[in-house]
Amino acid sequence: MAVTTQQLLQWKNQGRPIVVLTAWDYALAQLLDRAGVDAILVGDSLAMVTLGYETTLPLTLEEMLHHAKAVRRAVKQALIVVDLPFLTYQESYQQAMHSAGRVLKETGAQAVKLEGGYPAMAETVGRLVQAGIPVLGHVGLTPQSVHQLGYRQQGKTPDTGERILSEAHALEQAGAFAVVLEHIPASLAEQITQKLTIPTIGIGAGPYCDGQVLVTADLLGLSERLPPFAKAYANLKETITQAVADFSREVRDGQFPNGSNAKK
Ligand code: KIV
Repeated sequence: MAVTTQQLLQWKNQGRPIVVLTAWDYALAQLLDRAGVDAILVGDSLAMVTLGYETTLPLTLEEMLHHAKAVRRAVKQALIVVDLPFLTYQESYQQAMHSAGRVLKETGAQAVKLEGGYPAMAETVGRLVQAGIPVLGHVGLTPQSVHQLGYRQQGKTPDTGERILSEAHALEQAGAFAVVLEHIPASLAEQITQKLTIPTIGIGAGPYCDGQVLVTADLLGLSERLPPFAKAYANLKETITQAVADFSREVRDGQFPNGSNAKK
């Protein structure tokens, strides 16, 4: 059975952790889906990890739609959530509706994610949800605000922690089906997770969230720099470099193709 937003809520209530990873193309999404992840986020981190931008800000809606369609073609089970790129939803709820509508209509993904909380974004989320568009919220470190926040941990003081808690609460009230908590203290994430009825998905937010998400390039050891809270479960950078070096050497030495590879 394909994963739904309601299923995520049931898993929170059952205490069954939710597994989320990012994907940006057909091949990767197929592997993640077959490996059984619960949800795939076509995150705007693809701007940095696959398109070579310095930040997530330059990513356009057209670029996001292109990648999200490829992911959609690969996935049979996982819930697909697509990030709305910077300034494709912050101007007005009409702009958000237009962008989110294009994501659902043109890619076949089931939900969108947007960054920020109270009050402006909570109102936008409410409008999208009323129009039948499932929304994943995102508070704490919000990379689209890098020029205000940097990539530092957020919510370290009582005031900023309280602010993040109220943003998460406002998103829940507005109808978000879950909320990403990025790079905040574990104790704050635990408090938010206990107070909300919707699932929290943590990244750099400690072990007490209802689920965890990682940028798949970090998990696979493909990223230029690993954030302090991420873990590389493989070193694909090394594996790929070695495979390419082996191929190059064999071609230059006349060892490839040979034997079965050389048959007509
Ligand atoms: O774009 C992304 O990959 C994200 C995750 C960090 C949650 O938003």
